[in-house]
Amino acid sequence: MSTRPDAPDDANELVETVWPSSATRDERGEIVLGGITASALREEFGTPLWVVDEDAIRARARQALAAFNSAAGRHGVDARVYYAGKALLTAEVVRWVTQEGLAVDVCTGGELALALAAGAEPARLGFHGNNKSAYELEAAVAAGVGSIVIDSPIEIERLAAIAERLGINQAVLIRVNSGVHAETHDFLATAHEDQKFGFTLADAPAAVARIRELSSLTFIGLHCHIGSQIFGTAGFEESAARLIELHAELAEAAPVPVLNLGGGFGIAYTASDQPTPIEELAAGIADAVARECEVRGIAMPNLAFEPGRTIVGRAGVTLYEVGTTKTVNLEDGATRLYVSVDGGMSDNARPALYGAQYSARLASRISDADPALVRVVGKHCESGDIVVDAEYLPGDVAPGDLLAVPATGAYCFSLASNYNFVPRPPMVALRGGEARVIVRGETINDLLSRDAGLTESPMEGIA
Ligand SMILES: Cc1ncc(COP(=O)(O)O)c(C=O)c1O
Repeated sequence: MSTRPDAPDDANELVETVWPSSATRDERGEIVLGGITASALREEFGTPLWVVDEDAIRARARQALAAFNSAAGRHGVDARVYYAGKALLTAEVVRWVTQEGLAVDVCTGGELALALAAGAEPARLGFHGNNKSAYELEAAVAAGVGSIVIDSPIEIERLAAIAERLGINQAVLIRVNSGVHAETHDFLATAHEDQKFGFTLADAPAAVARIRELSSLTFIGLHCHIGSQIFGTAGFEESAARLIELHAELAEAAPVPVLNLGGGFGIAYTASDQPTPIEELAAGIADAVARECEVRGIAMPNLAFEPGRTIVGRAGVTLYEVGTTKTVNLEDGATRLYVSVDGGMSDNARPALYGAQYSARLASRISDADPALVRVVGKHCESGDIVVDAEYLPGDVAPGDLLAVPATGAYCFSLASNYNFVPRPPMVALRGGEARVIVRGETINDLLSRDAGLTESPMEGIA
């Protein structure tokens, strides 16, 4: 996965597209987030530390809602925007996005429980997942969840029986594989699907016919999610064309009021990423659906979307402290400076999982030392424990320096682990020049307390 970016003119620059808009450097050169210096955050909360900018999340939620509403409104239909909770789910995040007008999508009983406990309105929750248990489905139906996205023939029968027993009529969509897969700039369209999610286009009509036979379920529409970190509209347009063909066929028998096109809208992780503005994506997708509906002579359905990363990704910054640095000689005669920080794949699994690229900056100071090509690595026992694969930092980066990695708001907290018995960091939210803990950090005692083989913690009083 190794890349070698171009050496920047200024290895201290905070690239605008990657950092939260509140990020600046103060007169001493220190990074300031939401009005608070990185070193003040370290002093109060320690490192590693997940920092999220509440105003940035709220602003992005409003922007996305306005973009999708306006794109749908131009065709005389509504848009419902579900925040995809899997990207970052905490009680406060649920409150911020719902206060800004978003619905929420959850995909397990745990996510459902968190969203409900945080006060989300059940009727504005969508529930996904390829293997929801009977218990999870019952919890969702009983809570009054607005819609459930069915993923398999077995789930149709399982859910219908539960809804019938509870005496509730449940609105459902079915998840369909349009055969379109998109990642960043490219998309690939196939006719045959070999993956775990949803129904194929060919199997969908029989599934919908079965749902329509069942008095405890009401079929409201098709759902499709074509991938993540998508920059253009081409994949969505191809997918919409395929879905509308099926939608038109299903609408011959009974109205199909909704088309849910999922999430996947890309963000900038590094200076070279240039995501399409959300307004452009929303308009391109809505226009493509409208065109296809016109071709088929059918009424355009209301649209639904499920953005996750684009709502929270850029609002997050992770702070680490540098522990060691070491120079490694490479085969081509070049050298690479390894910079080890006090977290790693336990607080950001994405580089190890997908080869995801990030950037980094010295946070506690600026430096005019010559930029050095560095690899920022974690403290875990895996050589794939990489935080930032290739970045230029001032060459005098040293133990004790604070390092900030931007664009960590999405899928870092969610995918975190306790690998090597490393406690997960706290998450603090910034607003109005203040920082407050929204998820407390774990202690080693938290981890030891789950081990049934221990009667008392040897770390009592220490961690
Ligand atoms: C069904 C579904 N909807 C929405 C999303 C959110 O995707 P993103 O965070 O890339 O917008 C995902 C992500 O995996 C998903 O599986």
